[in-house]
Amino acid sequence: MNKVDHQLTIAVRRGMPTDLLDLLRKFPRGRWAGDPRIHGLAEGWIQRHEMFRELSVLTAKATADLREGRLAAETFLPLFQRRMGLLLSELETHHHVEDHHYFPAFAAAAPKLQKGFDILDNDHDVIHDSILSLNQASCELIAALSGEVSGHDGDAMRVAARLAGKITGFDRVLLRHLEDEEDLIIPLILERTRDDPDFR
Ligand SMILES: [Fe+2]
Ligand SMILES: [Fe+2]
Repeated sequence: MNKVDHQLTIAVRRGMPTDLLDLLRKFPRGRWAGDPRIHGLAEGWIQRHEMFRELSVLTAKATADLREGRLAAETFLPLFQRRMGLLLSELETHHHVEDHHYFPAFAAAAPKLQKGFDILDNDHDVIHDSILSLNQASCELIAALSGEVSGHDGDAMRVAARLAGKITGFDRVLLRHLEDEEDLIIPLILERTRDDPDFR
């Protein structure tokens, strides 16, 4: 992976650099759904990203509901464990496949976009650290709540407040990454679908 300038790191930038977005101008988001080439790889990619967005919203909402007394710990625990577990593990798997299969294949097919793949690769490293941190905070809340459920005071609300802050930060970088990745990759897939076997 090539080094990425500070202003292009995930916490700083506000989108992909415009010199990487020629294909997005040719295939703007508003036309993706109506393009027959969306079916297959591009559609699957977007659906995966939508699942991550939804799980991130659902885990944040469940945590807020717990903190504000709208959800009992007994109801929260199994819901939260399932959704947060799915979000973090599936995201790690998704990034692994992108890093080791799709990004190298796409960068080889479109060398002018190499800088974009370096940016996305760097994002994955940052998100990986966030996943570890979020997983630890989630485990702490589950332990604290499990203690409360069985009659011990685990100071769960203090732990839940810390987790809520981490989810907010995680959500911000996740949304930036998913949008920028789609802006780079979906137009590339649409352009290449008919004539390049790497894009099917
Ligand atoms: Fe990614
Ligand atoms: Fe992705």
